[in-house]
Amino acid sequence: MKPPIGIRDVALRAEVSVGTVSNVLNRPDVVAAGTRERVLAAIDALGYVRNEPARQLRSGTARTIGLVVLDVGNPFFTDVARGVEEAASEAGHAVILCNSGESVAKERGHVELLAAQRVHGVLITPVQSGPAQVRWLRERGISVVLLDHPTAEEDLCSVAVDDRHGGELAVTHLLAEGCERIVMVTGPAGIHQAAERHRGARDAIRLASRSPEVLEVLPAPALNVACGLRAGEQLLARAVLPDAVFCANDLLALGLLQAAVRAGVRVPEDLAIVGYDDIDFAAAAAVPLTSVRQPRHEIGRTAATLVIAESQSPSEHEHRHEVFTPELVVRESSRRPKLPRRRGESE
Ligand code: RIB
Repeated sequence: MKPPIGIRDVALRAEVSVGTVSNVLNRPDVVAAGTRERVLAAIDALGYVRNEPARQLRSGTARTIGLVVLDVGNPFFTDVARGVEEAASEAGHAVILCNSGESVAKERGHVELLAAQRVHGVLITPVQSGPAQVRWLRERGISVVLLDHPTAEEDLCSVAVDDRHGGELAVTHLLAEGCERIVMVTGPAGIHQAAERHRGARDAIRLASRSPEVLEVLPAPALNVACGLRAGEQLLARAVLPDAVFCANDLLALGLLQAAVRAGVRVPEDLAIVGYDDIDFAAAAAVPLTSVRQPRHEIGRTAATLVIAESQSPSEHEHRHEVFTPELVVRESSRRPKLPRRRGESE
């Protein structure tokens, strides 16, 4: 394979100095139009591509940010990444997307790679709540914004959603639909978001003055469709179905819905289902899924804007903790048919 075309090759071809080629690339306004055209023609003819890592090393100004998510297969993070990329691109930055797969070891590897790439900043949804990766990056002068993860720490920014409120919305809705026996399918213990949703679900039971036994917890090993399908099969094997299932995210809910449909269980008549995230597949599901909507695109845009602002003027930057409010989107999967009122029964 031929060695890459360098800036000297372009200078030779255009019969100018290396400095002039550098000016055309970095300060085109200081180069005479005719010379600029000659250099651009040489760049095009030779297929020259600038060496961005080398430029970053020389100038110390990276134009990339890192994004480390828990599960790149989860449309929630795809939608967040779209918002990140949009805001980063508007600020002249590219995004390096890394998938931790909920593995602390993989997350550490990605964090070290991003530091080696001298990225301007890192957005991270940490696998565990501990500050290890965040501190490691900040000690190396790399700005960090916690994504989809609140924090009380004053020396960094975070963007999150009030997941506890979201869990309360979901279960309050199911209680209002007359559900008396509710199962919550949660995620792995370390996933902060799922734990907060579970806390909110318990709040709803308490605020409705119901017995804690109304809410049963069924932990899932991961927040994906396969685990939702397995949880559904477990519940459907029981002699008596619960009235409803609240799932810690939409992927679990879609897997559970699949199990119910396969078993001929009617949703919501026999089993009401509520998810969380309101990804596009929720509305498009075989039975449109009720879900707690997170402003995914806005979460991404806000986090990217914060990390770029901090990296560009760290001394003036004021850290912020953005917490968005989720909203319940009610669809067919939880609208339980109302029993016909007997004559004279009040509304
Ligand atoms: O990654 C786990 C879940 O947390 C996602 O589905 C999304 O809800 C995030 O907040």
